[in-house]
Amino acid sequence: MDTVIIAIDGQASTGKSTQAKKLAENLRYDYRDSGAYYRAITLYLLDNDIKFDLNISDKILDKINIKQTYQEGQFSIYLNDDDVTDKIRGHKVSINVSNYAKKPEIRKFVFNQLRKSSESNSLVVDGRDIGTVVFPYADFKFFLVAEPKIRAERRHKQINDDSVKVDIIEEEIKQRDKTDSTREIAPLKKAVDAFKIDVSTLTIDEVFNKILQKIKSD
Ligand code: DC
Repeated sequence: MDTVIIAIDGQASTGKSTQAKKLAENLRYDYRDSGAYYRAITLYLLDNDIKFDLNISDKILDKINIKQTYQEGQFSIYLNDDDVTDKIRGHKVSINVSNYAKKPEIRKFVFNQLRKSSESNSLVVDGRDIGTVVFPYADFKFFLVAEPKIRAERRHKQINDDSVKVDIIEEEIKQRDKTDSTREIAPLKKAVDAFKIDVSTLTIDEVFNKILQKIKSD
């Protein structure tokens, strides 16, 4: 069966997963959150006290079984049959995941999982390197960007905690952009054939309509 792949990459806090999920629902495709794979692997390795500066052997990775589902608007991720959907968003994973996500053996693991999913299902996948590395032949590629200040304000609203200053969040976002786009392996960059959308002044629905329009018009 010929499957269709839609890649949604872009900067942190630009609403990639919101758009990817909406699109998957609209087109009745499956949805994969590539960042969630990195988070689930990080959770497993932290829980088993396997530090990121060690070589993560195939023997270790073979013990990790990850399943993602997206049903009736609900994304879930299972790590060796445990539902870890909320746990992977916790502080401990969040502060460690970028170190584990740099490792070639872990990137290969996620790459293989995503490629395997695409053999039987049409997919919308969000991440950083989906259109450049994982699915360079994707049928549609989008790249979302926005001003750091605007992303910081949006994130501030989500956090809903006045003790956290917007300026600090903005600095963190700028730092993360820099780390993501300058790392050696699979850096964040727009694929030459990706359609770039600056979401700074657009609502969720406006971005979604642009994406849908582009897909329908090609
Ligand atoms: O999107 P997120 O915050 O859930 O991503 C978690 C981490 O994984 C983050 O450090 C970026 C990294 N990541 C990556 O390197 N490549 C991807 N395709 C997706 C996420």
